[in-house]
Amino acid sequence: MPSSDLANLEFTRDEMRELSTATVARVIDHIVSLPAQPSCGDVRAEDLCRSLREPAPDAPAEMSGLLDRLFDEWIPRSFNAPGPGYLAFIPGGGLFPAALADFISDTTNRYTGVWQAAPALVQLEANALDWLRDWMEFPPTTRGLFTTGGSMANFNAILCARERCLGRDVRPGVMYTSTQAHHSIAKSAKLAGVFSDRVRNVSVDREFRMRLDELAAAVDADRRAGLKPFLVVSSAGTTNTGAVDPLNEIADFCARERLWHHVDGAYGAFFHAVPRLRPLLAGLPRADSLTLDPHKGLFLPYGTGALLVRDGAALRAAHDVPHAGYLPDVPADDAFYDPSLHGPDLSRGFPGLRVWLSVKLFGAAKLRAAIAEKRDLAVDAAARIARVPGIVMDAPPQLSLFAFHLTWPGATLDDENAATRTLLDRVTARGRVMLTGCTVDGRFLGRVCIVSFRTRQDRMDNCVDDVAAEAAEILAVSSAGTSGR
Ligand SMILES: Cc1ncc(COP(=O)(O)O)c(C=O)c1O
Repeated sequence: MPSSDLANLEFTRDEMRELSTATVARVIDHIVSLPAQPSCGDVRAEDLCRSLREPAPDAPAEMSGLLDRLFDEWIPRSFNAPGPGYLAFIPGGGLFPAALADFISDTTNRYTGVWQAAPALVQLEANALDWLRDWMEFPPTTRGLFTTGGSMANFNAILCARERCLGRDVRPGVMYTSTQAHHSIAKSAKLAGVFSDRVRNVSVDREFRMRLDELAAAVDADRRAGLKPFLVVSSAGTTNTGAVDPLNEIADFCARERLWHHVDGAYGAFFHAVPRLRPLLAGLPRADSLTLDPHKGLFLPYGTGALLVRDGAALRAAHDVPHAGYLPDVPADDAFYDPSLHGPDLSRGFPGLRVWLSVKLFGAAKLRAAIAEKRDLAVDAAARIARVPGIVMDAPPQLSLFAFHLTWPGATLDDENAATRTLLDRVTARGRVMLTGCTVDGRFLGRVCIVSFRTRQDRMDNCVDDVAAEAAEILAVSSAGTSGR
């Protein structure tokens, strides 16, 4: 530790080596142990959390003691989100090259907010955005933005659509999404000044996809009421059941009605990177804007979302303000991408390097193969789980997520909801996979979502076995109970 010179915050070469070697050793031990860790750690940690509160220490601590507590006590008290058995919510993986990229970004600490400050590095970010653009089959006019996640990508998209379609006359503007849209859409709308009385939640069909007739009726009613429909937000994979809205039909409707079409592909867009899976997302490249979340579908660690906007000038216009006199002049032409001109952040990390380094180190073919494998695993597991006695498959996989419930003769909806919850809890308690559910129209559904690169066939076999074993036990008790009513 830097000693008597209190104001010196620089480590020596040897100290840096020692600290980073110790940290990397713990990280690698942790990663290789992920498959053996329980899929959900013990997160009942109120007392622990209270005991952690402390004032900022004046004196320096030893790194080894901090690493011990982090890796032995605190990290295990969490959902094992990067582990192979994490099939809950929308999984996160955490590709190793992205962590190396972050280490390089943080230690070199170059300024990638404006192009002139680190032109070659910003170009790498622009390349990474162009790769996303090409995989999504968006046109060359597209500009994009890396964000902290899908929520902020949705926010920037709604802001962009609002600015382009409504200008200053925001209040009459109405937007449309489905009842199954992610709640970040409502939140983003609010942040973008489109309040809840101007957000319509269109109902869905039996496959949980937005109903076009209901959408058309809602738009018509609002026009008659003197309001100004301006935006439809559809989902390329809903969080609840993985439903893909009819993107082509919605694109046709939006073109006819002169509405902006934003597609929230935070969960599902990366399946479009695999040519053989493109029919599942037909119409996606026609969107005016698209959210895609590299920290989901491209397996990156949390903290990287992305937005593509077909008319790049609209994204830039949404963030246009008088130039700050202390900054370098904005280049006259648009030859080079500048992040701060296309998003709200000025100073920021370097998210582009995470994506760029991951794609460079693996190559796109390998990433595509991994994405395709997740879809295949879901189709296979859903077919096997659908054959488990008592399981009703409410939502077969449109992409890599499926949803189901448990039933038996004489069961009421409340019985089924309780039994399905118990099934998920018991499967998760076995420690090999973690499952979570969702409630749709009063029905509790069990969900299985496969988006982690670490989830392979063996773990899905565990999932099917554990669901079958627990379902059989629950049914034996439950059906005996209802037959005695
Ligand atoms: C469909 C969908 N949209 C948006 C989001 C929000 O993304 P993030 O959590 O990256 O902000 C999620 C998160 O799960 C999602 O599933």
